[in-house]
Amino acid sequence: MVSERPGRSAPIILSGSPADLRSDAATLIRAAWRIDRTRFVGQIAYVGLTGLIGGFNLLLLVPIVNAVAGTDAGTALPLAGRADLASVPLVVLLGAFVVLSVCTALLQRGSAINASTFQPLLVDELRTQAFEAILAARWTFVLQRRRSDVLAIVTMGATRCGMAFQQLIRGAVSVVLALSTTVVSLVVAPAVTAIALVGMLGLALLQATVIRPSHQLGVAAGLRSRELQATMQDSLDSLRLVRAHDASTVWVDRLTRDFETNREVQIATTRRSADTSALSSVILAVAASILVLLAVQLDVPPASIVVVLLLLARLYRQVDGLGTTAAQLANSLPAVTDIAALTNEARDAVEVPSTTSDRPGTLSTDSELPLVELRHVAFTYPDSSHGVRDLTFTLPRGEITVLTGPSGAGKSTAADLVLGLLEPAGGELLVDGAPLTRSDLPWWRSHLAYVPQETVLVPRSIRENLVWSVPDGATDEECWAALDRAAAGFTRSLPDGLDTVLGDAGLRLSGGERQRLAIARALLRRPSLLVLDEATSSLDDETELAVIDLVTGLVPAVTVLVIAHRRSTVDAGHHVVRIADGRVVDAGAR
Ligand SMILES: Nc1ncnc2c1ncn2[C@@H]1O[C@H](COP(=O)(O)OP(=O)(O)OP(=O)(O)O)[C@@H](O)[C@H]1O
Ligand SMILES: [Mg+2]
Repeated sequence: MVSERPGRSAPIILSGSPADLRSDAATLIRAAWRIDRTRFVGQIAYVGLTGLIGGFNLLLLVPIVNAVAGTDAGTALPLAGRADLASVPLVVLLGAFVVLSVCTALLQRGSAINASTFQPLLVDELRTQAFEAILAARWTFVLQRRRSDVLAIVTMGATRCGMAFQQLIRGAVSVVLALSTTVVSLVVAPAVTAIALVGMLGLALLQATVIRPSHQLGVAAGLRSRELQATMQDSLDSLRLVRAHDASTVWVDRLTRDFETNREVQIATTRRSADTSALSSVILAVAASILVLLAVQLDVPPASIVVVLLLLARLYRQVDGLGTTAAQLANSLPAVTDIAALTNEARDAVEVPSTTSDRPGTLSTDSELPLVELRHVAFTYPDSSHGVRDLTFTLPRGEITVLTGPSGAGKSTAADLVLGLLEPAGGELLVDGAPLTRSDLPWWRSHLAYVPQETVLVPRSIRENLVWSVPDGATDEECWAALDRAAAGFTRSLPDGLDTVLGDAGLRLSGGERQRLAIARALLRRPSLLVLDEATSSLDDETELAVIDLVTGLVPAVTVLVIAHRRSTVDAGHHVVRIADGRVVDAGAR
């Protein structure tokens, strides 16, 4: 569950509404607002002040140019009682110009620093919130998503969100500067500026035609980057087989195709904006010539013509820059939709609502009551017709129950139901005599330890692999004791002991060695219920017997659910439940 923590910003409510430009931008602004209001308001203040001071500075150009040209035409600035600046010495005007320029430069510097501090904050916060929401979501939510998609959205996608934010700020600066330039230009030469504005509007409209295609290209870029991530990850995951089957060309070809499509999307994006920019430059040259002719016709003083041309050139740069920024922004914004949609969907699928369980902290010791009871439990995987149809069996307290049956019968699904990872769609699952509710899950999980069918070890030290899921941690002695009990004594001969790093760049363990580490990890949790899903499948007969001895030694303090095919393990159970095609076909004490 995503909870509000002291010292951290409140969760961002992201809108997962349709992939629409405006809603994407609104989502980004809302996210920025919620993450750090002070910085956000500061950013707006920087942008506004830059525009205002920049405008005053531009206005000063008129008296400066007039003073240089030795004419007093147009020196009266129509501001605050029409201050007449004709008598102000040139050096004072230039001094004021320099001071205002320094202010503008400082403001722009502050704005850039503020934005670049804010940007990584925003990116990290978006990532954290997406990640937290995914980790707290129901298991079926996780099952329905490609891992590579999630990775692409939370890594590359979030970086694009940061870029979108930078572009949004740059766009806002351009708008404010364009407005201040327009106001000044209107003050200096209203008629010429009005005509020029019509041209600028045309230019802006021309540039606006790039925005939608850029947005669509941005959507395509997101899809392509996810495909690229999937291909890379799939090929790395299958590396052993790729080499053994000498099939690397298949993956290289796939990657090359993905890279090519990615490049095409990027080139298409750039081509559109480059075309518009080139066309705008041509239009500008023609428009500037016409304006000069017009200004001469309208008897605009020469100093004002120079200033107006300067202003209009500046305005053009801002409008052109705004066009480019808007196109880039439109291109980056779909990444905001992606991460917002992922976060919101994960939050909607939150496993444990905020209500707390009213169960007592400990499990009851009533030996008559089974620890777990499944009554006609049914479950179907999302977008599938598979699952379990009718499971009725109990896990008697302090005893070993073995679940067996053919591959695909529903054994792992039954284990996931017992663990509360999956929620029954029909029937009832009782723990300690009462139906297991969502709010009971944290309580229930605190009593569980699980060894999954596919061993999960991370490329870190043995100690970290053992301890990360133990709530109160474990001492080295406890780790060694658990390893010994799990028949993982082989670790004692490792030169770095518990510090031995596993995985890609470290020690590569055999399947059976991995399973024994996973069992040791489960033991360290001191569970009330231990679920072993084919946890001995890779072990030799002798090591398997050692693990069976361990399990037998755990009861009656621990209740055990063992999923197994092998006769030797099945025989170790007090009760055997045989399932086939999602139904219990045989259950009884041995
Ligand atoms: N994530 C999933 N999405 C859709 N169907 C699934 C999913 N996981 C399992 N299934 C299907 O549900 C059924 C039960 O699968 P389950 O993994 O529980 O079988 P199992 O008895 O553990 O098999 P095995 O002995 O091979 O591990 C199978 O038909 C399987 O194809
Ligand atoms: Mg299974």
